[in-house]
Amino acid sequence: MKYYSSATGFAMIQQLIEDKCGIALSKEKSYLLENKLSTLLPQYGLSSLEELYLKACLEENPEIIEEIIEAVAINETFWFRDKTPWQIIEDILLPDFIRQYRNSFKDGLKIWSAACSNGQEPYSIAMCVNRFLRVNGITDVPENKIEILATDISKQALLKAAAGEYDGISISRGLEDQYKFLYFSKVGRTWRLNEEIKRRVNFGQFNLIGRDYPYKQYDIIFCRNVLIYFSGRFKKQVMEGMARALKPGGILFIGSSELFEDYGKDFSMEQYQNGIFYRKKE
Ligand SMILES: C[S@@+](CC[C@H](N)C(=O)[O-])C[C@H]1O[C@@H](n2cnc3c(N)ncnc32)[C@H](O)[C@@H]1O
Repeated sequence: MKYYSSATGFAMIQQLIEDKCGIALSKEKSYLLENKLSTLLPQYGLSSLEELYLKACLEENPEIIEEIIEAVAINETFWFRDKTPWQIIEDILLPDFIRQYRNSFKDGLKIWSAACSNGQEPYSIAMCVNRFLRVNGITDVPENKIEILATDISKQALLKAAAGEYDGISISRGLEDQYKFLYFSKVGRTWRLNEEIKRRVNFGQFNLIGRDYPYKQYDIIFCRNVLIYFSGRFKKQVMEGMARALKPGGILFIGSSELFEDYGKDFSMEQYQNGIFYRKKE
């Protein structure tokens, strides 16, 4: 089948994607979009992006909309991405929590990985916590007092994440051998995460551009390497959602190459070693 593309078709799908998940594709990315959607068109017997748009919207077809989002969601991720969040957790956040837990000021720590992709981020958090407790001989703080929720818009990413199984290439990206051999076992060509760490993470679907953010629920949020793809209005909306979801004094991590310009109303910015993080104002 021959496909034809037009500026109108691109603009329609571009707007649909932005409205549904916040991702803003520039005109220069039109080739990328067509490339990604090219398998979807024949699947539905369609020959253009206009037709795809009409089928998705006028026929109110949530399945197609979901497939379009799956096609454009970039799931690039790796283990222990960026250095500083892990150091901040080990040097500041976990010691603080343990002190407060022992003084009965806190009963638990809630962490949210808000665009978790295939699971590397939340499982890195779980391994980091497990290692910290073990290496420091902490036995009076039950590990399950530290809850980890991991969400994403992509069902495919969530399925992969929940399976906890990784091929040779994905396991090698960012994961030191000490973690690999301690927390994974090799089954054929697959590296399977052990059940103890898998159990530490709960997965669920959450669209960051939705309005139903929890209120003052989380101590730490990771919202990294996702807002770089969003348009300005949705970036602002998501950051307001993050401020709503964090407890006063809670911590927000964004990606090391991301900029959070208007943080001042809800957050203060703190620096640790070469990294920064944002603290929700009291
Ligand atoms: C590049 S990955 C980043 C993964 C991880 N946070 C990291 O830093 O390695 C971006 C993730 O954001 C997800 N995503 C894109 N739009 C989203 C939305 N509106 N709501 C929730 N997740 C979204 C994608 O599905 C993808 O898994």
